[in-house]
Amino acid sequence: MTATTSKRRVRTAVFPVAGLGTRFLPATKTVPKEMLPIVDRPLIQYAVDEAIAAGCDTLVFVTNRYKHAVADYFDKAYELEQKLEKAGKQEQLALIRNVLPEGVRAVFVTQAEALGLGHAVLCAKPVVGDAPFAVLLPDDLIWSRGDGALTQMVEHAHATGCSVVAVQDVPREQTGSYGIVATDTFDGQSGRIRQIVEKPQPAMAPSNLAVVGRYVLSPAIFSLLETTPKGTGGEIQLTDAIAALLASERVDAFRFRGTRFDCGTHLGLIEATIRYALDNERLSDAARGLMRNALNEMGVKEN
Ligand code: G1P
Repeated sequence: MTATTSKRRVRTAVFPVAGLGTRFLPATKTVPKEMLPIVDRPLIQYAVDEAIAAGCDTLVFVTNRYKHAVADYFDKAYELEQKLEKAGKQEQLALIRNVLPEGVRAVFVTQAEALGLGHAVLCAKPVVGDAPFAVLLPDDLIWSRGDGALTQMVEHAHATGCSVVAVQDVPREQTGSYGIVATDTFDGQSGRIRQIVEKPQPAMAPSNLAVVGRYVLSPAIFSLLETTPKGTGGEIQLTDAIAALLASERVDAFRFRGTRFDCGTHLGLIEATIRYALDNERLSDAARGLMRNALNEMGVKEN
């Protein structure tokens, strides 16, 4: 059994951002869901910062023709920079320059047809090449005090030489919304995956350990994606290609330290906004007060 993420540095991060975002209509009629803000930054920036912190210097965005705003966001804003520079607004200047720090490059590839997450990842193959790489689904926002989730996973990949999939426990009735894994052994933090299934109904789920949108993958996944047939929802599923990878390589499930918010849902986005506001030095006290007022005015008693 080989383990082929080897000790090579994970330099490339893939961000599938071609989804329609219909849950957030009408907002997403013109604004891609990845551009919805959590406090002061768009959702995509959190995933990008996590990838950069984990050591990635090549960011591949798999987009479609409705996502120009994402490409524009990562482009250099010359006029705005000049204006801010003239006005001596160094703080704001640093903010927009840090969207994509020096030494990090953004590459955009198109997913012409919405054929699923597996297909989106396959679109990044020409950029990734023959090296281990990361996949981050920006909808899954992971808040953590210490190292980011991807940093923790990359460390595990380096230590073991295997592919790594982020997991968390979910209530059994929710297994139909996730990839679900079964592991041979689980030492509390990680375990080797024996089985992985996309969105099984609770009665069919091998466990309640659910895949969260962070992966460190061996490049062997690409040839498997090329032959993966359509699966759940009629889409080419990354989960199915990972299931095929299990036959030849070790893939570990990894329980990261951090809290994941499902920003693909209204409540997840609200919860993340509350958490990041409370975690923000400048806003925390005022945000607490606002929440208290809102609860009082709406006639809800605090515990
Ligand atoms: C995708 C994956 C699924 C995973 C989930 C995590 O599903 O296919 O295996 O559990 O992301 O967010 P999606 O939510 O895009 O339907």
